[in-house]
Amino acid sequence: MPETAATERDTRHLRRSIELASEARGHTSPNPLVGAVVVQRGRVIGEGFHAGPGEPHAERVALAACGEDTAGATMYVSLEPCAHHGRTAPCTDAILEAGITRVVVASEDPTSKANGRGPGILRDEGIEVEFFDGDVAAAARLLNQPFRKHARTGRPLVVFKSAMTLDGKVATRTGDSQWISGAASRARAHRWRAESDAVAVGIGTALADDPQLTARIEGVSHQPRRVVFDSEARLPVASKLVQGVSEVPLTLVASRAAARTSVEALESAGVDVIVATGENESARVAHALDELGSRDVQSLLLEGGPHLAGAFLEAGEIDEARIFVAPVLAGGRDAKTVIEGLGAEAIAGAARALSVETERIDDDVLIVARLAEW
Ligand SMILES: NC(=O)c1ccc[n+]([C@@H]2O[C@H](COP(=O)([O-])OP(=O)(O)OC[C@H]3O[C@@H](n4cnc5c(N)ncnc54)[C@H](OP(=O)(O)O)[C@@H]3O)[C@@H](O)[C@H]2O)c1
Repeated sequence: MPETAATERDTRHLRRSIELASEARGHTSPNPLVGAVVVQRGRVIGEGFHAGPGEPHAERVALAACGEDTAGATMYVSLEPCAHHGRTAPCTDAILEAGITRVVVASEDPTSKANGRGPGILRDEGIEVEFFDGDVAAAARLLNQPFRKHARTGRPLVVFKSAMTLDGKVATRTGDSQWISGAASRARAHRWRAESDAVAVGIGTALADDPQLTARIEGVSHQPRRVVFDSEARLPVASKLVQGVSEVPLTLVASRAAARTSVEALESAGVDVIVATGENESARVAHALDELGSRDVQSLLLEGGPHLAGAFLEAGEIDEARIFVAPVLAGGRDAKTVIEGLGAEAIAGAARALSVETERIDDDVLIVARLAEW
């Protein structure tokens, strides 16, 4: 794929396309976030982003926003333009019809139906197409990590979220964990739920806390599918999770060990039951992720508890960790820590973050550690 040295102006417009794309965060799945800017003789004449499934693609929105002639203009787009007929007509057609002569792209689309086809068609029609590399490309890829992992592996991107005390505990020795982090941190976590396709916990947490796992903050238009890992289908029909199933879907990941009667009771209450197979817990995590991916779940917020998180870590399926550290010391040999499982033998073999960001949220510190890049 040809690359080009970033000129300052090109970089600025591409950054703007990325900024526009991020406006629709949490609303486009299973589609990617995409933004586009149209520039004529150095001046921006139109810009736009893809707002969600069924809505026009960013390229068309940006072209429609142009109040003047687009012939000979340059289009900056955060993801390569599509060439396929989906719910909307191909963007390559719109670009050709508009007489755009140069297209500058921040990131490639790894899905099999895209994968360079659009840029190829545009080049065949005599349009100059350039892909950028470096920081801009990295920022554009970062925006669409769930879409990219799902396109490449068929599995959702897993973001592990936890709130721990200064001494690494996620609950006291009696299992009490409400609340370790402050109200602002919890509101942030609710925002992440709204931005995710699904939220998962283990049956240990479901039984201990009886959570709803919904996003309960102002302005939320989307609720994530709730997922409970529960080999023996022990989740009570009277739990808040099952009771809320008519409003928000609930998937239960059971194993072959689950009694048929328990599965049937949950299914007749409206629960979607997946039977994950595999010889151990991490193999069943991998199988469950395949199944969730086939249900178009591209992003999964894993909310624990420590036992389930250990199985995800052993499966190599934690792509990002978002840990709130609260100024509390709980102590206790038997109080649970963030991730259990067998764990690494040596620090050299432990999962090390590729990049880290920190943020102070009232009295808590949020650490976001990225462990994989897609
Ligand atoms: N501070 C926080 O952020 C936070 C977050 C979450 C939880 N917590 C606390 O953590 C405690 C619960 O944690 P926990 O570790 O006991 O329970 P957990 O991780 O929520 O659930 C573990 C259980 O999940 C089931 N499971 C089903 N499929 C699995 C698979 N493929 N891999 C691994 N497990 C699978 C297993 O039971 P079966 O084999 O019977 O299915 C396992 O025992 C509670 O006290 C809760 O309040 C704190």
